Amino acid sequence: MVSRVIPVDNFDLVIFGGTGDLARRKILPGLYRRFCAGQMPEDARIIGAARSDMDAAGYRQMIKEAIAEFGGPGEQSAADIDGFLAHLEYIPIDARGQAGWSDLAAIMRKDVVKAFYFSVGPGLFGDLAERLHLHGIADSDSRIVVEKPFGHDLTSAKALNATLAQHFDEGQIYRIDHYLGKETVQNLMAVRFGNILFEPLWNAQYVDHIQITVAETVGVGGRGGYYDKSGAMRDMVQNHMMQLLCLIAMEPPNRFDPDAVRDEKLKVIRALDPVEQAQIVRGQYCGDEDGPGYLEDVEDPKSKTESFIALKVGISNWRWKGTPFYLRTGKRMRARTSEIAIVFKDPPHSIFGEQEDRRGNVLVIRLQPNEGINLRVTIKEPGPGGMRLVEVPLDMSFADALGPDAHDVPDAYERLIMDVIRGNQTLFMRGDEVEAAWAWTDPIIEGWQDRGDTPRPYDAGSSGPEDSLMLLHKDGRRWREVRT
Ligand code: BG6
Repeated sequence: MVSRVIPVDNFDLVIFGGTGDLARRKILPGLYRRFCAGQMPEDARIIGAARSDMDAAGYRQMIKEAIAEFGGPGEQSAADIDGFLAHLEYIPIDARGQAGWSDLAAIMRKDVVKAFYFSVGPGLFGDLAERLHLHGIADSDSRIVVEKPFGHDLTSAKALNATLAQHFDEGQIYRIDHYLGKETVQNLMAVRFGNILFEPLWNAQYVDHIQITVAETVGVGGRGGYYDKSGAMRDMVQNHMMQLLCLIAMEPPNRFDPDAVRDEKLKVIRALDPVEQAQIVRGQYCGDEDGPGYLEDVEDPKSKTESFIALKVGISNWRWKGTPFYLRTGKRMRARTSEIAIVFKDPPHSIFGEQEDRRGNVLVIRLQPNEGINLRVTIKEPGPGGMRLVEVPLDMSFADALGPDAHDVPDAYERLIMDVIRGNQTLFMRGDEVEAAWAWTDPIIEGWQDRGDTPRPYDAGSSGPEDSLMLLHKDGRRWREVRT
């Protein structure tokens, strides 16, 4: 069975920023789906905490509407919704002042898991952490959950880590990168370490190169203020794509446990080569009939922030020296698709003579949509007329292979929140990992800032700027097509 439900301990989960966008779009609808799956303990409580002055009834109404909008596919029964809403409480609170804190202290229970989700800007992390302690609300078993962006650069990430460390141990801090909660991302580890087949070939001797693509069709409209200060490098590469790269490149951990996995990821980040500016292509989308261009989506009409980035990354260790990782991500691209392609080398000698247009073995791990794994292999073209070779996919879509249950797998947030309640940090980033990722990212960003680099325009609905094709062409390679 795919969606087996493993019970979790009883909990009080406080969501600071409980009326905000993330809470309404992802956190509460995700918890609702866990409730429907039968995973929520009977007495579990979810306590929204935010500035707005409302009571529990008002909050339940707000979340009811959010579930109707973002709850996901499937019929929503009134009984399920009412059952879930009965778990909700609400406390108006002033993160920077004193109002509401003694009310929160009064309703928290002693003998349950206590988790605090900081679904607020990082500027409030310190205030919240301090008040949770001052009012005796958090104890040494409590957990806090923090969202990206975890800092803007190495200095700010270090400052955030130091602020949280004043009140919480590392073992209590859950830094979310929702890509780690995606089903196929975890499957990457299952495929690598659960099979004998791939691991012997998983190195520079047999892998020609690796492509990681996260293409989106949406623009930055509505989030222009945040995005223009970040760009694709900070928004996607420093965190989500870095995590994917780590899971592909890391050595087999000794156990699937939090520190064993995170130690191996950290070693990868520390082995990343600095990236030369010539190995980077940045772009900004132009407008078309479907929507405005990047410069109209943000406030600064002269912005030099990138909405697309492609880069070639090397890893200096025995396993990967000489095998490039090509990373590419962008907004307003041709299709919404995220995939990792492991492109293997050709056999050392062809006993079949030269065959035109041979393309070799490729293992593709599709993150979204249509999660699945596809292995391209060479076979003989059927029929008489000699030995002609063709490539065919050995295709495994999870939905086809595992049946309708495969559609019911929890989304990233559902899984990660339940991991917080279970106290399992394996799929969360450790402080040193985040800092190492910024230490690698900062000089790259400084490099283009020093040069006054201007991103290349690219057509909305395309695969990004032409120059990004050249990044691979000059190495005699080509990107896989961006398509669903
Ligand atoms: C977020 C980024 O972390 O991830 C967004 O801030 C991006 O800009 C999103 O759109 C992509 O997530 P997903 O799950 O839709 O691939």
